[in-house]
This record gives sequence, structure tokens and C-alpha cells, in this order.
Amino acid sequence: MVSGVAAFVYPAELRYTLPVCYHVEIYYFSGTGNSLAVARDLAQGLGARLQAVSALADRARVTSEADKIGFVFPIYDFKPPPMVEELVCKLDGIESKYLFAVCTYGIVPSR
Ligand SMILES: Cc1cc2nc3c(=O)[nH]c(=O)nc-3n(C[C@H](O)[C@H](O)[C@H](O)COP(=O)(O)O)c2cc1C
Repeated sequence: MVSGVAAFVYPAELRYTLPVCYHVEIYYFSGTGNSLAVARDLAQGLGARLQAVSALADRARVTSEADKIGFVFPIYDFKPPPMVEELVCKLDGIESKYLFAVCTYGIVPSR
């Protein structure tokens, strides 16, 4: 559930610039559900597969067949949670993918 205090950046234009036929995968991390709600909404609009970042924490490497990869996560202390940064480093072939990110935050997302 999205709380009343949380604001989030929602790139509505993605809905129209990324055709549903493309293979999109969304990796999400969510502590209290705000980012999960955004990730679910995006996945529905883009026809994307949802993947929890926490489920990949023990993996040494992560491989994705997707052409386009999205990351949805909350801002913790002005930056992404460590688990999300670790995933970015573990994703094979990330340099050749189209990447996008959506953050949820409370008041100030960066310094
Ligand atoms: C440990 C912690 C650190 C946070 N740091 C920030 C921050 O630096 N800036 C900000 O605007 N919000 C911050 N927040 C608020 C969260 O980013 C915000 O509530 C977010 O929507 C939570 O997403 P989630 O429900 O997916 O976990 C923080 C929240 C927590 C729990």
C-alpha cells in the first residue's frame, strides 16, 4: 500500500515509448510496499516480468534474457539500498541492455 507521505517519480511516458512486445524485466526492492506497488503498476503497463531483488541476494551472478531492465526501489539515506547496487554489479551483460530506474522516496531523494 502506498503511504500518504511517500512521493514517487512515475515516468508515465514509459508506457508509450516501450512497446509491450519487448521483453522487459523489472527488478524491485521494497521494504514497506510503496516500491512494490509502483513496480506492479509498471509491470502491468509494460507487460513486464517482476522479479524481487531479495530473492537474488545469494546469487553470485544473475542472467537476464530481457532487452530492457527496470529497477524500482526506495531511496534509503539518499541512495539506493545496498541490495539493489549489488544486483546491478551481478547482472551479466548489463552494458548492452536498455536500463531504467524508478525510485520512491519520502521527502528528499538526494543531497
Ligand atoms: C532506512 C530508511 C531510509 C530512508 N531514507 C530516505 C531518504 O534519504 N530520502 C527520502 O526522501 N526518503 C527516505 N526514506 C523514505 C523511503 O524512501 C520511502 O518511504 C519509500 O517510499 C519506501 O519505499 P518502500 O515502501 O518500497 O520500502 C527512507 C526510509 C527508510 C526506511
